[in-house]
Amino acid sequence: MSWSQERLESVARTRLSGAKLIVVANREPYIHRFRNGEVECIRPAGGLTAALDPVMRACGGTWVAHGSGDADARTADCGGRLRVPPDDPSYTLRRVWLTKEQEEGYYYGFANSGLWPLCHQVYARPVFDPAHWAAYKEVNETFAAAVLEEARGGPALVFVQDYHFALLPRLLKQARPDLVVAHFWHIPWPNPETFRVCPWGPELLDGMLGNDLMSFHIQYHCNNFLETVDRTLECRIDRERFAVERNGQTTRVRPHPISVDPRLAGEYLGDDWEGRASAIRKTHRLGDRPLLVGVDRVDYTKGIPERLLAVNDLIERHPEWKGRFHFLQVGAPSRTHLPAYRDLKDEVQTLADRINWEHGTADWQPVVFLNEHTGPEDVFVLYRMAAGCVVSSLHDGMNLVAKEFVTARPDEQGVLVLSRFTGAARELTDAVLVNPFDVRQTADGLHAALTMPADEQRRRMRKMRQQVDDHNIFRWAGMLLSEVGKLVDPGTVPEPLGLPPPSEDEFRTLLARQQSLDAMRLAMGVA
Ligand code: F6P
Repeated sequence: MSWSQERLESVARTRLSGAKLIVVANREPYIHRFRNGEVECIRPAGGLTAALDPVMRACGGTWVAHGSGDADARTADCGGRLRVPPDDPSYTLRRVWLTKEQEEGYYYGFANSGLWPLCHQVYARPVFDPAHWAAYKEVNETFAAAVLEEARGGPALVFVQDYHFALLPRLLKQARPDLVVAHFWHIPWPNPETFRVCPWGPELLDGMLGNDLMSFHIQYHCNNFLETVDRTLECRIDRERFAVERNGQTTRVRPHPISVDPRLAGEYLGDDWEGRASAIRKTHRLGDRPLLVGVDRVDYTKGIPERLLAVNDLIERHPEWKGRFHFLQVGAPSRTHLPAYRDLKDEVQTLADRINWEHGTADWQPVVFLNEHTGPEDVFVLYRMAAGCVVSSLHDGMNLVAKEFVTARPDEQGVLVLSRFTGAARELTDAVLVNPFDVRQTADGLHAALTMPADEQRRRMRKMRQQVDDHNIFRWAGMLLSEVGKLVDPGTVPEPLGLPPPSEDEFRTLLARQQSLDAMRLAMGVA
């Protein structure tokens, strides 16, 4: 039987036996921000929120996240809560307010300057700063307090997302041993040799072993994790059951490759996608030439300069393509507060300009670089109208752009050029697989995308669509829930052992801080 929203709903009902579902992820699925004096609601770029929103719509419950939008406090109640999605409220978003210093140390610092490069191993040197580590610990405690508050009064399954919260599972278990805690790590896990440079490695691993289930996209990352734990902490590794036993607690370690909701493509495309495609062609002067697209956050793990070099190589080695195709890169601004991300944006812009200068003419610019927030409605039209989609990550846990692209192609046309170093490459084996470090091979992949006969495209696309249909986001969540749901005990709930939830006063202080920030922004005319 295939997995659908309805089947997930029923699994959630039976497996959770009335326990609350609480998802914790740094990024919120709906951000409210001020634009021209008005409040607007946007969906952030990034696979995690797009993937988990349909799961929460199906299961209900609470999503605890950092309230990062400048209009977030205005649109939530005094507990930071609001019902979402705004047009079809089906679950609760609980926003946690962080100070600028906390965001600097926890999000930009330890999470994105330390753990992100450490886990991706893409030759960006991780930064380990004691002040970042202190903020990371503090924010994990802040989120623990918020989760404990949401979990008050009954059994709950807490589903923690990603590398922002390695310490949270242990904090939760210490306070409420009855909570069932599962954790999904959306990025790769490195080998023990790489991991051991992290000065706080043992503390991170101890935090993660507070989980009942620790899950990664692929078996290889599970193996790396078990190996890392084995070399770092005193514990028993059960290699038959893929579990770690420590201080009387068992943490199972399992692969669960994340996916997408294939129905969303139809919703985003609607009936008028062709009209919107013509408008895009007109705006960017694309004529009726074939289009290759890339859709990414501007992040150094995504291999965006490498793919531009491949575009350049394609034009140089195949001059017959001059004037006859475009490469359009959607590059959503991301983590722009960090110099490495700002430098990358400049590098991509410079490369795009150089290629256009060297090969372009008054009527034809080979590269279009859109460095702006682009909503899913436009992104899916680009997928639908493209001859090919290029995903050239240097290292990626999964990469959901690859999966989204195939869901947008009911016509069974279009070629996926996909980096071998993504989790997606293990499932989408009918893509044109390339090594993004090999510019010539990637250029050959682009050439293949532009020249592949329609029959061959159909054969490959049909198989990839089948794979994503069968292994969709509802299956991912259903399998995870089935695995941990049986641990939920609908019986009595013990009193918390520690970490009492913050008092009303503490919440009021945080709210007041947010409101004074708002007032300051208004006064400065930034809102
Ligand atoms: O899994 C990687 C991740 O950090 C996800 O949390 C998210 O989907 C994506 O990268 C975007 O990152 P951020 O939330 O930092 O903008």
